[in-house]
Amino acid sequence: MKDPHADNLPKSVPIGRFYLRTFGCQMNQHDSERIAGMLGVRGWQRTGDEKEADLILLNTCSVRRHAEERVLGRLDRYRREKKKRSQLIVGVIGCMAQVWKEKLWERFPKLDLILGPGSFARLPEELEKLFFSGDRVLIDRFEDTDEFFRSPSSRRSNLQAWVTVIRGCNNFCSYCVVPYARGREVSRPPGEIIEEVRSLGERGYKEITLLGQNVNSYRGEDRGGDLVDFPGLLGRLNPVGGIERIRFVTSHPKDISPALIAAIAELEKVCESIHFPAQSGSDIILKKMRRGYTRDEYLKRVQELQLAIPGIALASDFIVGFPGETEEDFARTLDLIREVRFDRIFAFAYSPRPKTTAADLDDDIPPAVKSARLQELLALQRSISLENNQNLLGQVVEVLVEGRNRKFPDRGEGRTRSGQAVFFPWKEGMEGRLVNVRIERATDLSLFGSIIFSRRPEALIRGEK
Ligand code: SAH
Ligand code: SF4
Ligand code: F3S
Repeated sequence: MKDPHADNLPKSVPIGRFYLRTFGCQMNQHDSERIAGMLGVRGWQRTGDEKEADLILLNTCSVRRHAEERVLGRLDRYRREKKKRSQLIVGVIGCMAQVWKEKLWERFPKLDLILGPGSFARLPEELEKLFFSGDRVLIDRFEDTDEFFRSPSSRRSNLQAWVTVIRGCNNFCSYCVVPYARGREVSRPPGEIIEEVRSLGERGYKEITLLGQNVNSYRGEDRGGDLVDFPGLLGRLNPVGGIERIRFVTSHPKDISPALIAAIAELEKVCESIHFPAQSGSDIILKKMRRGYTRDEYLKRVQELQLAIPGIALASDFIVGFPGETEEDFARTLDLIREVRFDRIFAFAYSPRPKTTAADLDDDIPPAVKSARLQELLALQRSISLENNQNLLGQVVEVLVEGRNRKFPDRGEGRTRSGQAVFFPWKEGMEGRLVNVRIERATDLSLFGSIIFSRRPEALIRGEK
């Protein structure tokens, strides 16, 4: 079946059907859009049914043991399937390929392809070789960046697009496998990013989300050899026509600079929202995590952001049950959450990862304690989110209409500039428009309201007099 959101992919002769399943973060989701695009131009057709696929690709994540287990479970199934269908090609690509390498063959000796995220551009070529030779392949080099991002993309939406600006990570937080899975930081040249965003704007995209493990350390070299930093990149993207909103994830707290704060405050398309993971509220744990900031320094960044950008939405990640985390350390985390009153939180139980320095520490917090702390933290955040959302009752917010809700077709859905989900009565032709919604009902996760019409709604939304 043709992907309805295919990005003007050139037509060519189908050479087979591929099934592609993605695990992990938004970077992985977007890499998969590129991979689907690259295969599409070569004539591969996408299928959602593994049974009719000639090629099965799993784009994998290694960030926690659980993410890997889901992939290993599938591989056991495909191992059996390959016994029945010897022509089937199975590949593990992405972070787990890079971290596990040949160890994946111990579980699944006939696995055809193991290809890390530094070599995605080689995928079509390697598949062709595989077809002719049948020899299994392992590729774990970090070679391409630009070429992969010049390839076509089969995007999930025709309104919102992910745009990778920096790959890899140099931070080596003690618990995190990402630097091993994704390699060192490499920034894309600003010219290429601007060109991509311009082309998205021309094709009707309204919102872009700039992606990187740590977007603030972006340093791209422009054609004249000058370095452009992340606030500089935001400044260059702000005027691009057609684009209404610019978002970015993720920001490392230690790199939140005055220039970045000024960019969010001053550039009208840059949304008033920032995802900058605290990970813990305890200085002892932050130090063991090698995060490079203290609790006070984190809170200082929060203050600076809130002062310069009133109403800014704050999002964070937390890890509970890090080795040696005492009840007191955990209480410091809860306390930080109460103090900042985040808009959104993603929280995880600590999972020891191979190669990381924390893996040498005793994983001494029992699973039941990790899980209880996780539940307590999430319950606290739910109550804060509910209160934050209830404060919006009666207010008018700007919403980019994403479309019709699948489950409730009389409802339209969209997001505020701060990324909050909003539902309202659906009217044909709304998709892709910026509308004003008066909030009438709020839960911890969503807002509900009705559209406020005005003679010049678009002008109102942009704040013109
Ligand atoms: N680059 C981002 C996050 C990347 S991973 C950043 O630096 O903030 C996404 C989240 O997974 C992390 O923020 C962290 O909260 C969580 N995470 C990473 N490694 C983990 C581990 N070993 N166990 C549990 N959670 C982990
Ligand atoms: Fe992992 Fe830390 Fe890099 Fe984020 S900054 S990807 S948590 S090593
Ligand atoms: Fe997972 Fe790799 Fe993203 S390890 S979180 S898919 S960078």
